[in-house]
Amino acid sequence: MPNERKIILYIAMSLDGFIAKHDDDISFLAQVEQEGEDYGYSAFTQTVDTVILGRKTYDKVLSMGLKEPYGDRQVFVLTRNPHHKIDKITFYSGSLSDLVSSLKSETGKHIFCDGGAETVHQFLQNDLFDELIISIIPILLGDGIRLFGQCFPEQKLRLVESKSFEKGLVQLHYIRIRD
Ligand SMILES: NC(=O)c1ccc[n+]([C@@H]2O[C@H](COP(=O)([O-])OP(=O)(O)OC[C@H]3O[C@@H](n4cnc5c(N)ncnc54)[C@H](OP(=O)(O)O)[C@@H]3O)[C@@H](O)[C@H]2O)c1
Repeated sequence: MPNERKIILYIAMSLDGFIAKHDDDISFLAQVEQEGEDYGYSAFTQTVDTVILGRKTYDKVLSMGLKEPYGDRQVFVLTRNPHHKIDKITFYSGSLSDLVSSLKSETGKHIFCDGGAETVHQFLQNDLFDELIISIIPILLGDGIRLFGQCFPEQKLRLVESKSFEKGLVQLHYIRIRD
């Protein structure tokens, strides 16, 4: 039987839990940039063929001028304002649980949740994450967009790996325990 497709959050936050400033400034991520070090991102993206992200993160990615940031992967952009499909980009306004169930019923690689915070909150409220890979950047931002909001069901996790890197980034890899 093929491995079940997993929903994996791969994201970076400041030590005090922010993924961006309120004006969407993510320049704090630059402090860990290092030639030849991508913190496992390329290897991770080889394990996924589908990406789910919020519309604001999609806009941010577009504003960064990255050409085909997700390659030939299937991309679902969550939005409450329907748009037409563009190539492999589907703008999705339905139930997130239904989308995840449908994707998991198909054969494929894993599914990458690329944030941002509102999107992560929807996943948490519906207990949809199977794995979380969180990179902690050595900075206290003090304010901004929090990765974890409040009011979602308790979800037990097991730490399967922790790595630290020369630039001070610490990467924590958790799997969701369902018993
Ligand atoms: N540090 C990192 O690794 C990292 C990673 C990802 C993102 N970010 C940053 O996070 C910020 C964006 O995060 P965010 O929390 O503000 O926004 P977000 O989650 O990226 O996008 C929020 C938008 O997604 C849509 N949405 C969310 N849930 C939905 C649902 N259940 N059904 C339909 N549509 C839904 C809505 O779009 P509409 O308004 O179109 O209806 C909503 O306004 C950006 O600054 C980005 O750069 C940082």
